[in-house]
Amino acid sequence: MNSIETLKKLHGRNPLRVLFVCLGNICRSPAAEGVMRKIVDENGASSRWIIDSAGTGNYHIGDLPDKRMRVHALRRGYELTHRCRQVHESDFEDFDIIVGMDAQNIRNLRRLAPTPEAEAKIVSMADFVRNLATRYDHIPDPYYEGAEGFELVLDLLEDACRHMFEIVEGREA
Ligand code: 4NP
Repeated sequence: MNSIETLKKLHGRNPLRVLFVCLGNICRSPAAEGVMRKIVDENGASSRWIIDSAGTGNYHIGDLPDKRMRVHALRRGYELTHRCRQVHESDFEDFDIIVGMDAQNIRNLRRLAPTPEAEAKIVSMADFVRNLATRYDHIPDPYYEGAEGFELVLDLLEDACRHMFEIVEGREA
């Protein structure tokens, strides 16, 4: 099943528990968490969504998001206060859908999934991107990039999160 079909099946789930996952959990996934939370809050849906993020790696556990990502996100109105944590096998029980940012994240998540049902919860964030979908089949890691890399990630995440909200809630974000 593709990512959109997987999310569509969760339409009406209350609460819907979403986990965003990248490698470091200091750039892409905490930003996705912040973007999704703001959309949900602004649309009066915060009681129906549980949103978190985690990393497949363990380099930055306990850290705030990367300073550059916090600065770029804040300019768009997202305050990122998440503390980095690593993804655990128990996350497959605690969340309804697990959204990886790139193919490597998804490979690592598949390896961690304890059951086929758990593995079926893994989807790709890029599948929800609409505006730049022909150019990006993943959310590019901005860690070794300049300012444009962080702005691109935020553009892709805003687009994808709005689409996710619309699929789940059945209305425009
Ligand atoms: P993220 O970016 O996966 O979007 O959080 C990265 C952050 C840190 C590292 C790699 C990617 N790192 O190698 O430390």
